[in-house]
Amino acid sequence: MGLGIMPRKSNIAAQHAMQFGQQTVAAPMEKTRRVRGVFESVAAKYDLMNDVMSLGWHRLWKRIFVGMVSPQNGMDILDLAGGTGDITKLMHRPAPRANYTVCDLTPEMMAVGKKRLLNAGIANVNWIAGDAAQLPFKNNSFDRVVISFGLRNVTYLDRALAEIRRVLKPGGKFYCLEFTTLPHAGAQKIYETYNRVLIPQLGGMIAGNRASYDYLIESINRFPDALTLTDMMREAGFHAPQYRYLTGGIVAVHEGIKPN
Ligand SMILES: C[S@@+](CC[C@H](N)C(=O)[O-])C[C@H]1O[C@@H](n2cnc3c(N)ncnc32)[C@H](O)[C@@H]1O
Repeated sequence: MGLGIMPRKSNIAAQHAMQFGQQTVAAPMEKTRRVRGVFESVAAKYDLMNDVMSLGWHRLWKRIFVGMVSPQNGMDILDLAGGTGDITKLMHRPAPRANYTVCDLTPEMMAVGKKRLLNAGIANVNWIAGDAAQLPFKNNSFDRVVISFGLRNVTYLDRALAEIRRVLKPGGKFYCLEFTTLPHAGAQKIYETYNRVLIPQLGGMIAGNRASYDYLIESINRFPDALTLTDMMREAGFHAPQYRYLTGGIVAVHEGIKPN
């Protein structure tokens, strides 16, 4: 776990809102539109590509993540940017009688998820289209808000963090699983090269969609590092934000509490 005191990060949030992969967009709304386009186009192959891109590691990371979230029956839980429902499916095992909501920008991703979860016998999920920057929920609605591999795609990082805090109940907890910057600079260089060269090629071969995987890799390379994100969470009003690296720092789990 690590804690850091850093200067204000609002400039990083502003930069993030204008960056779509390697391109700078004319306005943040344009980024949101393009991100949605990416996930519309990958929805059908998303689950397969996750296995291929991460060599299956995402399954382990998600299991560890859900263990940290510790869902309980009766809790109100929001799986934000929940996509095809992987995390909700995993949370459902230990807590089948929690109240689950998946909220995502891209209805096509949720359509795949709905079908998958129904096939697995999971029906107690509300699927709601929405943007993390303007969540369609009342204040103090959830015991847990979780976001897995979603935050780096969100246009307005600072607004999304503020919205997550708003919809959490006092004392409720936020958990984020996301790619991060490896703490070792040399290892980060090798990892970036692997990502830049191999992943878009695989995306082209398997999903027939090289451009979308170019974006996904750039979004990983450009996402704020773990300490910076911790600091942004503190600025958004989370109590005791902290993080834990998994697999040597390829991904990090951040957590924070909404103060009472
Ligand atoms: C990489 S997928 C992650 C899906 C799932 N959480 C998982 O771990 O497999 C990212 C998801 O973020 C969603 N997303 C992107 N921008 C968003 C936003 N501003 N608000 C809500 N969801 C968003 C996309 O539609 C996509 O389904």
